[in-house]
Amino acid sequence: MENPPRPPAARRRPYALLSLGFCLSIAAATPFVADGVYTKEQAERGRATYDVECARCHGDKLQGGDSTPLAGERFLASWGRPNLTLDDLYYVVRKTMPKETAGTLTRQEYADVMAYVLQQNGFAPGEKELTPDPAVMKTVRFEAPAPRAPHDAPPTSR
Ligand code: HEC
Repeated sequence: MENPPRPPAARRRPYALLSLGFCLSIAAATPFVADGVYTKEQAERGRATYDVECARCHGDKLQGGDSTPLAGERFLASWGRPNLTLDDLYYVVRKTMPKETAGTLTRQEYADVMAYVLQQNGFAPGEKELTPDPAVMKTVRFEAPAPRAPHDAPPTSR
């Protein structure tokens, strides 16, 4: 499958220089996945879908099974990079998963599964459901919970 978009090294440099000011300016307005961007009920629905549609490949506990883990350090290291939003993950999930039957779930089901994935990665639920709209997902920064890696750290290989 396609990897999530990854800027070439040459384009990452200026970003790193800008990122401090950029982060300061978006910090007030932009939610992070750690800010409670889904509800407990939504994650419950997501779990039901996950068990039917995803568990056989990614494992009962998202540990990987025959495929890649969807929870844990490695997953967070690759999806928690500062240039990614929740929509990057949503895009991969809704366009390429379940592998072999990609795109067969509704957007709502994909969003619910995302809620479950966030929950299993230790992000707390909140008051509002995660909206199954790419435009909304784009506003949510997907950054790993503290301790955060320095923004100009070399990308983790996966
Ligand atoms: C038939 C097996 C299979 C099923 C079912 C499946 N996946 Fe996958 N998934 C894979 C494989 C294999 C990969 C590794 C990349 C690739 O080969 O496409 C992957 C990759 C991923 C990734 C990217 C992981 C990363 O860190 O790059 C995500 C996210 C994902 N799957 C989510 C899901 C979700 C959510 C479901 C259920 C809706 C699902 N998958 C169902 C096999 C499966």
